[in-house]
Amino acid sequence: MAEASFDFSGRCAVVTGAAMGIGAAVAKRLGEAGAAVSLWDIDADGVSAAAAASGAPSAIAVDVTDDQAVAEAADRTIREIGAVHAVVTAVGLPGPRQGALNLPPDQWRWLVDVNLHGTYLVLRALVPAMVRQGFGRVVTVASIAAKEGSPLAPAYSAAKAGVVALTKSLGRELATTGVAVNCVAHGAIDTPMLEGLSPERQAAMADRIPMARLGRPDEVADMILWLLSERCAYTTGQVFDISGGRATY
Ligand SMILES: NC(=O)c1ccc[n+]([C@@H]2O[C@H](COP(=O)([O-])OP(=O)(O)OC[C@H]3O[C@@H](n4cnc5c(N)ncnc54)[C@H](O)[C@@H]3O)[C@@H](O)[C@H]2O)c1
Repeated sequence: MAEASFDFSGRCAVVTGAAMGIGAAVAKRLGEAGAAVSLWDIDADGVSAAAAASGAPSAIAVDVTDDQAVAEAADRTIREIGAVHAVVTAVGLPGPRQGALNLPPDQWRWLVDVNLHGTYLVLRALVPAMVRQGFGRVVTVASIAAKEGSPLAPAYSAAKAGVVALTKSLGRELATTGVAVNCVAHGAIDTPMLEGLSPERQAAMADRIPMARLGRPDEVADMILWLLSERCAYTTGQVFDISGGRATY
């Protein structure tokens, strides 16, 4: 199938979690559409390799839970690509499969830190410049877990629900500034995040999906590119499903 065509010539973008999976797919598609992309990830080798593979001009090793490091990455991004018109926050970590009442508090804090506070810190560092320039597109990445609450993933589900609420708040706060803030909440997508799961568990996940298969990173990237484009002109503070028909609301 031909890819949807978008023109991001002259646009600059930051994608976090860009060393692999959905972040890498989005960064690659943005580059192909003409954007100058800065890839951010905690995996220094992985993010350099992903940037080299997609011809991106900037690769930054950064832990999104470290507010000082995020602020420095934002400054470096401006030096390397000149501006930021689009941000995608694709960092996410489900953590160990553990019931809510058995999850140790330090693991709860760590998972909320990576999935929610990391998203907040990145937006806090990058969005003010978008507001000043009068244009920006932000896409946060949540999960169907944010809507349903996944059993054995309580911190991940709660943190992703927080990402949804943050998106709705910020989208409405910035509604007259030219900066649109939206969220994708996808179901199971075939990325390295699922590599640790047994084939039986992956098959059980596919069984719950009306389209009877896992999604692909490029399918998520298609939706995100539209949300980052100027064609997304009258939509902000919203959550977009991409779950093969699994989500019921
Ligand atoms: N794959 C799925 O089935 C699925 C389903 C629902 C939601 N999601 C969400 O989609 C997003 C992308 O998922 P994916 O499957 O591509 O994941 P992935 O594991 O393939 O990639 C996640 C990336 O985030 C990076 N990362 C982790 N912690 C970091 C930190 N503290 N600072 C900076 N980078 C960090 C990792 O190094 C990795 O490159 C995540 O937010 C995830 O929660 C994925």
